[in-house]
Amino acid sequence: MNKGKVDALLGIVFGDEGKGKVVDVFTPGYDVVARFAGGPNAGHTIIFEGKKFVLRSIPSGIFDEGKINIIGNGCVIAPDLFMAEAMELETAGYSIKDRLHISKRAHLILPTHRVLDRAYEAAKGKAKVGTTGKGIGPTYSEKASRTGLRVGDILEGFTAKYQALKARHEQILKDLNYTDYDITAEEEAWLKGIEYMRQFPLTDTEVELNEVLKAGKNVLAEGAQGTLLDIDHGTYPFVSSSNTVSGGVCTGLGVAPNTIGEIFGIFKAYSTRVGSGPFPVELFDETGDKLREIGHEYGAVTGRNRRCGWLDMVALKYAIMVNGVTQLIMMKADVLDTFPTIRVCVAYEKDGVTLNHMPYNTEGWNAVYKDFPGWQTDLTKMTSPAEFPAELNDYIKFIEQETGVPVTIVSVGPDRAQTINMEK
Ligand code: IMP
Repeated sequence: MNKGKVDALLGIVFGDEGKGKVVDVFTPGYDVVARFAGGPNAGHTIIFEGKKFVLRSIPSGIFDEGKINIIGNGCVIAPDLFMAEAMELETAGYSIKDRLHISKRAHLILPTHRVLDRAYEAAKGKAKVGTTGKGIGPTYSEKASRTGLRVGDILEGFTAKYQALKARHEQILKDLNYTDYDITAEEEAWLKGIEYMRQFPLTDTEVELNEVLKAGKNVLAEGAQGTLLDIDHGTYPFVSSSNTVSGGVCTGLGVAPNTIGEIFGIFKAYSTRVGSGPFPVELFDETGDKLREIGHEYGAVTGRNRRCGWLDMVALKYAIMVNGVTQLIMMKADVLDTFPTIRVCVAYEKDGVTLNHMPYNTEGWNAVYKDFPGWQTDLTKMTSPAEFPAELNDYIKFIEQETGVPVTIVSVGPDRAQTINMEK
């Protein structure tokens, strides 16, 4: 960690890499933890003192009572879901009201944004993105078209602005012939959520963050989703609607590029994807089922089956490049414990053409694999890299050689204690 700097912790594949656990492990070393993109489409699972929490909008640093957590301007927030999430923490005994600061510039997800999300997906038919249904795309679209409602509006003429935007949405839905919805109950909870949000500091978080940095303190920027779901660098149009890459830290928090320190890139020892879109390493056989079962690969937000496959080095190298990753964190190595052979995709192939960089469109490309002998050893009780089997060391060494970036942490289970520092 770097004093006076923002370190970024980013999922560098399709999300669900296990960012929540790592942020929780890292938090003691930081003064502030901040989310810079996304919203309740995220589901960061943390097991804390034996209880499981799924954080959607609230940064994963919230369990450390001494720390300030920030929801930055690049985020979108649904007041009703935020209230449910925050109240679960309050009920569990965490005091959060004074140390969870929300940017006035973050955009509000309305109940009608969620209806629009469903309506747009329905209109796409087979080409649907498979969104989380949380209204993410419609909210970011309105941010870009300059018609959105922001957190700061809660403090200034809120009701009139809300009613006007809701009426606009209802007109769009009517034009789409999508009228079979009822938001009465949702709206009631949403308006309660707005009142609840007033109890939190709604601030100019970009100013606050820059003051923190000027005072020589450090910030951990917690990413959401993953690089391949980035609106610019992901597998468009099968992506989310925000910049999930390291560049998004600057725009999503209001901090300058020269304040960025380390960029931690998190990936799993294998690959998963939720929702539609190309996925060259996807396995449709019992190996894929086995990865899903052992890795509990079911969506934290939607409960959907995650699509599973082997590690994709082509995608990983691309993500490392666009993010400027300085350290790699490999999660869920233990999920591979029982596989006799472990495969890694080292190139893509189509019609006799082989590529070892990410093409513009990965649809229709097949994975070319390199095989590694599995370690067939239980990693979950290991506490130091000295105990690692030779096969795992070879696997890690291959990743480091191919990417030119050190793997500095290897996770071998869901518990904090199962996070092994490679001491490089
Ligand atoms: P949206 O962000 O709800 O618009 O969904 C767009 C795409 O991103 C869909 O394929 C989702 O499944 C995927 N997605 C969104 N958030 C996450 C996440 O936190 N983890 C994994 N996939 C996600």
